[in-house]
Amino acid sequence: MKSLSFDGAKLHWTERGEGPAVLFLHAFPLSGAMWSKQLGALKDAYRAVAFDAPGFGKSAALPAPASMKRYAEAALALLDHLSIERAAVVGLSMGGYIAFEMHALAPGRVGALVLADTRATPDSPEARKAREATAHAVEDDGPQVLVERMLPNLLSPAAPPALRREAEKLITENAAEGLAAALRAMATRRDFSAALGSIACPTLVLAGDHDTLTPPAEAQAMAKAIPGARFEPLPGAGHLSNLESPKAFDAALRGFLDARRAGL
Ligand code: MLT
Repeated sequence: MKSLSFDGAKLHWTERGEGPAVLFLHAFPLSGAMWSKQLGALKDAYRAVAFDAPGFGKSAALPAPASMKRYAEAALALLDHLSIERAAVVGLSMGGYIAFEMHALAPGRVGALVLADTRATPDSPEARKAREATAHAVEDDGPQVLVERMLPNLLSPAAPPALRREAEKLITENAAEGLAAALRAMATRRDFSAALGSIACPTLVLAGDHDTLTPPAEAQAMAKAIPGARFEPLPGAGHLSNLESPKAFDAALRGFLDARRAGL
């Protein structure tokens, strides 16, 4: 198995294709495996890399405390390891939180940003408390807690049972330790809303039109605050828009990347 050691933890990724690099950052509580369709859709013309964030999928957890910044540093270490100077970074939800940190740490290494079903604002005090309670529940009872508490909000009510089972499999393959660490890391994430105006790379903002966790109106407002950003709602999708509307997601992503290929 390919691996990279970062802060004592072995980190894992999957990659397909050759060409300008595209780095995919997954949502909570899934893993890089949620991007398998997108890797297939880009592999003819791009080097598409799906990273398992520390503590997810086949990546080991980092020493506590975890943070979105630490995950971003791990993603930058992966780019170093793969000799990728600059990548288009595609982050969905928690992946978007990590993408904001990557951009803040090393803007020159982010050739373009795709922010899907995500937000720049931090957790409210109530949300932080709820995260801590959920982290304890996951530590006590395992990842199944998240299938019960979160999965109903991750997909739209119309999502087919097979897709629910696929998402459940990805969730329950994760270790409780990594999930609890990420819940605490998301609870303490930074507020990037005031920094949106200084994002200078080409940016695409996507949101499932049935996303109730990061509603499209919020995503659209975020796009307006990023100079030159484009917003595209994805019909028929809930929060995990790439899984629920892969054709629309891939068409939007591919159109955006192809139009900017020369600069990537
Ligand atoms: C995600 O999809 O990554 C989560 O919904 C993010 C969050 O809970 O803030």
